Amino acid sequence: MKITVSGVGYVGLVTGIALSHIGHKVTCIDVDKEKIAKLKRGISPIYEQNLEKLMNENKDRLEYTLDYKSAYKNPDVIIICVGTPEKEDGSANLDYIYSVCEQIAESLEKDCVVVLKSTVPIGTNDEIEKKLNNAVKDGIKVYVVSNPEFLSQGTAVHDTLYASRIVVGTENEYAANVMRKLYEPLTKEPYNVPYLHTLRKSAEMIKYASNDFLALKISYINEIANLCKKLGANIEEVSKGMGLDPRIGKSFLKAGIGYGGSCFPKDTKALHWLSVINGIELKTIKACIAVNESQKLILFNQLKNDLGDLHGKTIAILGLTFKPNTDDLRDAPSIINIKELLRSGANVKAYNPVGINNFKNNLKKFGINSDSNLLFYESIDDTIRDADAVMIMTEWPSIVNYDIAKYKKLMTEPRIYDGRNCYKLEDMEDMLYFSIGR
Ligand SMILES: NC(=O)c1ccc[n+]([C@@H]2O[C@H](COP(=O)([O-])OP(=O)(O)OC[C@H]3O[C@@H](n4cnc5c(N)ncnc54)[C@H](O)[C@@H]3O)[C@@H](O)[C@H]2O)c1
Repeated sequence: MKITVSGVGYVGLVTGIALSHIGHKVTCIDVDKEKIAKLKRGISPIYEQNLEKLMNENKDRLEYTLDYKSAYKNPDVIIICVGTPEKEDGSANLDYIYSVCEQIAESLEKDCVVVLKSTVPIGTNDEIEKKLNNAVKDGIKVYVVSNPEFLSQGTAVHDTLYASRIVVGTENEYAANVMRKLYEPLTKEPYNVPYLHTLRKSAEMIKYASNDFLALKISYINEIANLCKKLGANIEEVSKGMGLDPRIGKSFLKAGIGYGGSCFPKDTKALHWLSVINGIELKTIKACIAVNESQKLILFNQLKNDLGDLHGKTIAILGLTFKPNTDDLRDAPSIINIKELLRSGANVKAYNPVGINNFKNNLKKFGINSDSNLLFYESIDDTIRDADAVMIMTEWPSIVNYDIAKYKKLMTEPRIYDGRNCYKLEDMEDMLYFSIGR
């Protein structure tokens, strides 16, 4: 099939490459010149395991372009994967989707199935289908299908090929058949991905309800962790004991300093906003958001409590990204902690194995002055040397497997605030060590 994927971010690029891998001819279009130039040179603009390898293996079926007129002229399927960031009121910003739709309407010369893979509020697919059919050239018909994405950054390629499920929401038989054909190879050996055909609005809701449930699990375990610490229980034992119950499940029960990233923060706010304007407020989600906001600062508050005045103190931050194995910094807990530290007069030294330039380039967006007392390092040794305290924000393997004896060797007084429970308590007994729920 001839596919156009719109937006080569984490979702679009991985989707496009995965679809080329199962035999489709894929054109990837974006408005970002730098990203397209890199892709044309065989370089992935984002970091995901195996992505570049798969991209180069399937290069004969992949094309990258900035030219929307040719990309949207005559594909069988267009898959929209542009961002839907949060607006100030918490609702989803659909401007990027509308702009793609205008370009599609201007360029399309035959009937087409347009797939919304971006996460969008319930009812958006109906609206987009109406808008597109009103705007396309006479005689052309557009069928809009909801096909939400469930990949996790860090394991995006594997999550797409061996997905937990493919959800396709459409009431139209023609579109349903096209979607079956599109994904057929993934529903067979060796992938065997379960395929669920639903109402279009159900598919939109499945995405939000799934993400918000996972976010809820995180906020819940973080609150339990804080209580464990107070009462002398150990959250790791508690999570293990809970996870053995198949009704609960093991995943998303790891306590830490809160969720971040491009999805959970905005998707919890967007569904909460939607529930409020429809008069059925999701109180669980409201609580989940509030718990996460306070959890993000749990290390900072403890540090301030322990050290008092932070003026002139040097604090090392280990890990900037919201989780390991990704270069994505969106809503990462490190950002708010660094801002609070700088505001309190501390000097901050920061380490992350990838994505440091990404952080440097976005200082303004994060609300951090470029002349702040913030320095970046490529080695943990250099970051923690002579620091008054270390704050661990991300459980990168290089941090988890770090020789902990070096904390004693390189710091004046080893004082570790571990937001990801990277180390065994017994290994840290002769240091000042604060972790979550233990
Ligand atoms: N990142 C995830 O883990 C994840 C997982 C599931 C679902 N989602 C959802 O998928 C959507 C995309 O997320 P993402 O993380 O891939 O976003 P992203 O910001 O990484 O990528 C979006 C891309 O769209 C491009 N773009 C903007 N306007 C465009 C236009 N008019 N034409 C073509 N390209 C355009 C941008 O330049 C960018 O490259 C969002 O709705 C998100 O909620 C994301």
